[in-house]
Amino acid sequence: MTYLWWQKGIVYQVYPRSFADTNGDGVGDLRGVLSKLDYLEWLGVDAIWISPVYPSPMADFGYDVSDYTGVHPIFGTLSDLEELIERTHQRGLKLLLDFVPNHTSDQHPWFREARSSRDNPKRNYYLWHDPRPGGGVPNNWLSVFGGSAWEWDAASGQYYLHSFLKEQPDLNWRNPEVRRDMYAAMRFWLDRGVDGFRVDVLWHLIKDAEWRDNPPNPDYSPDQVPYNALLPTYSTDQPEVHEIASEMRALLEQYPERVLIGEIYLPIRRLMAYYGTSAPGAHLPFNFQLITLPWSAQQVSAAISEYEGSLPANAWPNWVLGNHDQARIASRVGLAQARVAAVLLLTLRGTPTMYYGDELGMRDAMIFPEDMQDPQGKQIGVSRDPARTPMQWSPGLHAGFSQATPWLPVGYDYQHCNVECEAEDRFSMLRLYRRLIELRRTEPALSVGCYKPVLAQRQLLAYLREAGDQRFLVVLNMGSRPDHLSLSGIGEGEIVVNTDPRREGERVTNRIVMLGDDAAVVRLRPH
Ligand code: GLC
Repeated sequence: MTYLWWQKGIVYQVYPRSFADTNGDGVGDLRGVLSKLDYLEWLGVDAIWISPVYPSPMADFGYDVSDYTGVHPIFGTLSDLEELIERTHQRGLKLLLDFVPNHTSDQHPWFREARSSRDNPKRNYYLWHDPRPGGGVPNNWLSVFGGSAWEWDAASGQYYLHSFLKEQPDLNWRNPEVRRDMYAAMRFWLDRGVDGFRVDVLWHLIKDAEWRDNPPNPDYSPDQVPYNALLPTYSTDQPEVHEIASEMRALLEQYPERVLIGEIYLPIRRLMAYYGTSAPGAHLPFNFQLITLPWSAQQVSAAISEYEGSLPANAWPNWVLGNHDQARIASRVGLAQARVAAVLLLTLRGTPTMYYGDELGMRDAMIFPEDMQDPQGKQIGVSRDPARTPMQWSPGLHAGFSQATPWLPVGYDYQHCNVECEAEDRFSMLRLYRRLIELRRTEPALSVGCYKPVLAQRQLLAYLREAGDQRFLVVLNMGSRPDHLSLSGIGEGEIVVNTDPRREGERVTNRIVMLGDDAAVVRLRPH
């Protein structure tokens, strides 16, 4: 059995505004990413996914694209991006772009044309609707960022749909011309050697043809975001979306070893369809369970089993711990459990996706209201800024991110939580990540081996990873009190990676003692 790079490898997400600034404007750029390839190679990741770097008015920090085949000057030039593709490839790394097909910027030439008159040839690139008889919005659909999903365009006398900001009008994916032009944009990048795409909000692309009202959410409570007041029954996850995913996939199949990753927040049973229904869909529909579930051994172990048990034949699993839309793992579960989470992410079966800075244990930063940048924070009070702060490279000025004041403040803890200090510290989160990555890279049992759950009680989660006669036992204590696991029927071995490096090398025979917040990878003796 041969495995492809995106099955064996590790994906690392770079939020380019916050990774490294080389031109001194306080915003990260492509040359910044280039300047950190040594670091990424040292860390041991395989593929870099960069959040959007296309021209954009930045209403949603690049997720409002005004030109799908260009580069925003704040990030650099097209030739910088071409150089990044080339230099990543020279090192055996892969480069993935973010593709944002659900909506454009309202400043995209298509939308400017579309709104100029009702009979403009681009009108049908977007989703326009007359008011309801008697007036008012066409239906009850809500924007993810709060309020109605409809915006009135007085000049042309119709509403247009925007699932996110009003500056992000939704494209009409039932229009074959939209598909043609968007696939041409994907081809533009594939021809330049890009290794694949992370597709933004893939499950949103097609909407109910009859524009039916969404039903109320019976489980809604006022502490949730306003968008959750309705179930998005008719505005997301429509059956026809799978046709689009498979068209994208077919396009990628014309190139060798490209990968299609879909951003999809859905329960497992709905998520599986994104691997493809009648034709292949995404290679990796993002699996966000480690983000969305409560952090308990029972819940996580049940979710792993449900996920493993639901995967269609030949579908490859994947796991995600954090991204630019969510609180950081170290803030969700605490620093001690974030170490346990690192062991989990890097020993589960399936492609892991890491979020920049999580390997340092970066935590959500304190952002004062007057410094808030995120439009979601401004509109509904749930800001994503705290998880988007500058990468912490050193204890120096602005954490080594920039010579100028960064666009978002640097985290409070940067003087000790940074690459320079942690690289020297055997007990650091960074060194733990690096040991885990190195082990995963050298042991096929951990990257592509099979997964077998081990019955564990209370706050322990345990499983085996096996390939041939190579066997590893992973034991995670998801609580902070000590516990133990009997090894009868499992075997004996030696701890090779542990959240506490002093335990590495320890032999375990009848049982393994797990301290609080402890996680161990044990190499078992062959049977
Ligand atoms: C995705 C992106 C998020 C963005 C939204 C609208 O969820 O990850 O950052 O705001 O789509 O494009």
